[in-house]
Amino acid sequence: MATLKLRDARKSFGTTEVIKGVDIDIDDGEFVVFVGPSGCGKSTLLRMISGLEDVTSGTIEIDGQVVNDLPPKERGIAMVFQTYAIFPHMTVRENVGFGLTINKIDKATKEKKVREAARILQMEHLLDRRPSQLSGGQRQRVAIGRAIVRDPKVFLFDEPLSNLDAALRMDMRMEIGKLHQDLKATMIYVTHDQVEAMTLADKIVVLKDGLVMQVGAPMELYHEPANLFVAGFLGAPSMNFIEVTVDALEGDRARVSNAALDPITVSTRGRAFTVGQQAILGVRPQYLHPVKDAEGQLHGTIRITERLGAETIVEVRLNDGEPLIAALAEDLVYEPGTSIGFDFDPERAQLFPPQD
Ligand SMILES: Nc1ncnc2c1ncn2[C@@H]1O[C@H](COP(=O)(O)OP(=O)(O)O)[C@@H](O)[C@H]1O
Ligand SMILES: [Mg+2]
Repeated sequence: MATLKLRDARKSFGTTEVIKGVDIDIDDGEFVVFVGPSGCGKSTLLRMISGLEDVTSGTIEIDGQVVNDLPPKERGIAMVFQTYAIFPHMTVRENVGFGLTINKIDKATKEKKVREAARILQMEHLLDRRPSQLSGGQRQRVAIGRAIVRDPKVFLFDEPLSNLDAALRMDMRMEIGKLHQDLKATMIYVTHDQVEAMTLADKIVVLKDGLVMQVGAPMELYHEPANLFVAGFLGAPSMNFIEVTVDALEGDRARVSNAALDPITVSTRGRAFTVGQQAILGVRPQYLHPVKDAEGQLHGTIRITERLGAETIVEVRLNDGEPLIAALAEDLVYEPGTSIGFDFDPERAQLFPPQD
């Protein structure tokens, strides 16, 4: 168990800086997810924490000790990668116990630890199989087992589920959540998948271009995104961004409108706007409610209806020509070309400056 602290951590490859000054605090036993698009620096940051990549400047502390110059095996971490990195010629038992074998741990202790990891991961019946006799999910479980037996202070996961098909991914996601509940260890989990971030994390760190965009609990980020990037990244379908004009300001309230939106008053959440300026109104698809006879605040025409089963997604062409996505109840179906109006709770809308 351990705490982690990054202070102004930076990493350059040659002259290109890819991690541009990152500060992160991780509590003992916390499950932290680094999320962001491909290439934003998630793996690099994780590798810096593990010691596989050196730090160009700044510090990384584990349990109050600066570990910048400590080799990976002395940091008390264990890492699980997207590719399983298990040995095909070894059984599950040998693979899981591999780290203990090379560290010359005695046989009885090793067998006990391997059994315990197998029990936690529900693969005791697989211990004598070889990787070729396992499914993708079972192979990843072997890799996780190998991390567990090492009793690390911190678990690092780099997109461990990305090679699995959708159904398995969901199973394994739940298992990793359960693993954290069982072990109560500090875990850092890297993914580009916002669903994994939302479901697994105690705390999400949203990254973009080597910079932290926002840190917070999943629902905190969902309801109070700090900027357009976070607002658009978390949640599916993505938040609608509607270009509006700021018509009036009073205290922390702004009245906004456009050709498709009747004037509404929303909170500025402390952001600065000026009257007459363009701004972006963010409204989640789930917060839009269709109103009879095309009334409501937001007006347009149905283009496409997609019935997903649990919900119906409609794509709307707003009266100013811009697209809008709404997520509606499963039994609501509209013909293309139907005029439609939506209501929404202005308190749930977000107002952002245009180039956030
Ligand atoms: N060894 C390396 N040499 C040069 N550039 C690298 C190296 N590793 C990663 N990068 C670059 O650093 C950036 C971040 O990469 P990475 O951390 O792998 O992103 P992510 O894991 O978020 O997809 C990318 O632009 C990538 O091309
Ligand atoms: Mg990566």
